[in-house]
Amino acid sequence: MRGDAVLRVIRAYDDRVVRAYCWGRFWILRQRFLDAIGRHLPAEGPVLDVGCGFGLFSLYYAQVLPGLSLRGLDINPRRIEMARCAAARLGLSNVTYELGDAMAYHADGEYAGAYMLDIVHHIPEDAVRPLVEQLFKALAMGGRLIIKDVDTRPAYKRWFTHALDRLMDPTTPVRYWSADELEALLAEVGFRVGRQRLPDYLPYPHVLYVCERQD
Ligand SMILES: C[S@@+](CC[C@H](N)C(=O)[O-])C[C@H]1O[C@@H](n2cnc3c(N)ncnc32)[C@H](O)[C@@H]1O
Repeated sequence: MRGDAVLRVIRAYDDRVVRAYCWGRFWILRQRFLDAIGRHLPAEGPVLDVGCGFGLFSLYYAQVLPGLSLRGLDINPRRIEMARCAAARLGLSNVTYELGDAMAYHADGEYAGAYMLDIVHHIPEDAVRPLVEQLFKALAMGGRLIIKDVDTRPAYKRWFTHALDRLMDPTTPVRYWSADELEALLAEVGFRVGRQRLPDYLPYPHVLYVCERQD
């Protein structure tokens, strides 16, 4: 069922390059990672996907967690358009997409959850804290912000990730945070942070941060 949901997402795009990208993303963030992330999402309620890209992960979670009402934001209009088309093709009414800059995001509702998958390192360093602060404000008490990003260590894994980021988008600078540094920032903003490595045979230094809003 969960594997079928992944296949349905990939088939919802006409563009071959985008389909190939989806295969790649679902290979990197494959089922056990989707499950590791998904188990920290609420079973129902509004959830924000910041930097949703083509929408592949929100389209996946909209299928396997039908009680969620997902809202994807991305700065790239083509990606948002493709995400909307894919949602329509899949007949999903519990996911919407909007063009938006995460750096201009202001808490705009009460969310049961939010997530950012490989977004933090694409955001300029001094914009990360304001974004995290706004997400903190936007979450209901007990709500969770889930971040999947990459550590700076070991160095060979960081270089591997950097090479792929450059390949995908040679012009946009990236700023990788060490897991200690990002965890400290999240805690300073007020989250109770759980951090775990997601070990893999691919040389990605994946880290998952589960950040709970508390009193
Ligand atoms: C590596 S992709 C990840 C996309 C998606 N989260 C995924 O895992 O497939 C990074 C995404 O961040 C988006 N992005 C970069 N800067 C952004 C910003 N300031 N506001 C919103 N989205 C942004 C890009 O357009 C791109 O879709």
